[in-house]
Amino acid sequence: MKIQRLRLQDFRNIRACDLAPEDGINILCGENGQGKTNLVEAIYLLANLSSFRAFSNRKLIRHGAPAARIHGVMRTGATEKELAVELMPASKTVKVNGKGVARGVDFFGEAAVTLFSPETVKMVRGAPELRRRFLDTALSRVDRGYLLDLKEYRRILEQRNRLLRMVREGRVSVAALHPWTTQLAERGGRILHGRCRYLSELSAVAVEIFQQLHHKESSLRIVYRAALPRSLMAGIPVESLDTAALKARLVDGLAQSERLEIQAGATRLGPHLDDLLLEVADRAARDFSSQGEGRLLALSLALGEARLFERLKGDRPVLLLDDVGSELDRRHQGLLCEQLPDFGQVFLTTSERSVCEKIPAPKALFDVTDGEIALVMGKQK
Ligand SMILES: Nc1ncnc2c1ncn2[C@@H]1O[C@H](COP(=O)(O)OP(=O)(O)OP(=O)(O)O)[C@@H](O)[C@H]1O
Ligand SMILES: [Mg+2]
Repeated sequence: MKIQRLRLQDFRNIRACDLAPEDGINILCGENGQGKTNLVEAIYLLANLSSFRAFSNRKLIRHGAPAARIHGVMRTGATEKELAVELMPASKTVKVNGKGVARGVDFFGEAAVTLFSPETVKMVRGAPELRRRFLDTALSRVDRGYLLDLKEYRRILEQRNRLLRMVREGRVSVAALHPWTTQLAERGGRILHGRCRYLSELSAVAVEIFQQLHHKESSLRIVYRAALPRSLMAGIPVESLDTAALKARLVDGLAQSERLEIQAGATRLGPHLDDLLLEVADRAARDFSSQGEGRLLALSLALGEARLFERLKGDRPVLLLDDVGSELDRRHQGLLCEQLPDFGQVFLTTSERSVCEKIPAPKALFDVTDGEIALVMGKQK
């Protein structure tokens, strides 16, 4: 997939822009605070309907403007598609080929975009939630069934937690909990199985990319950490179990912890609490990786996600690389740049001209200054 045309209006500090990006590497170069990440954010939003760094529309609409608009013409093979998102302070409208789309889940998947940004790097050292979010987003992009399971799991979890508190307060009997426990385990088993299967493929790709980027014999290992009692697993790795067996483990685990869960008023095990263990040279990256190593690791996961998307869906996603060169030394910047031509359409932001010079065969270079985006090198269309 590629973006043929991108038009923005009143998005963050970008008053208006109309770009015709190229198929290969598009560089967005500019000083700090000029609007490079804003442009990347707009493209991300076109695929995800949400931002990776803001939760309210108000922040995304240019100060003083009533609404922000993002319009993209996407092309896959010979097929073109128009996506339009309009953001108002308290609502948004979404259109595909001019026709309104009511539910977010029906839109997700219309555009294939993979993101690497400084936010992605946070997953190496941050809370488990960041690693789960990365995995869930990546997996939802290739498996719509997974996205629906996840949505349903969250709904059941909320309901079950409410019931746990009602049982604690003596307002309903414990028996009322059980149908919800079964439903939660049903979806939970599917989510666990989906995650383990996806992760085994992603790991293989990411490990290879990490080696190419790092160019050192420090191996990367990614392990799924399920929040299931050890007594139930009996040493069996979670990834070797099928959906039914995972569901059964969740049912048993939830039964075991029922008393504690009622006390706590919260569900204490299941995929909403799981984690990914990232290890470099047999040590947890969370505790031991350097700044640059953490960045290479997060990059390997993001590039791995893009590769795996291509393998599973037969189409290359648009790759967004925000601030990708910073914190990398010259050698690692060079190793990264060598990889880039193997991806499809890439948008890469940088504040350093020296990074631009390393990139092999960039197709377009845009200058970003005070929200104005100007083509410096490439074909005017
Ligand atoms: N809703 C908004 N309306 C107007 N301007 C905004 C809005 N939101 C953010 N900005 C401005 O956008 C600018 C930041 O843009 P952006 O994050 O894209 O910078 P950048 O070019 O990526 O910089 P860096 O190199 O530091 O990452 C800031 O000056 C900020 O004040
Ligand atoms: Mg930025």
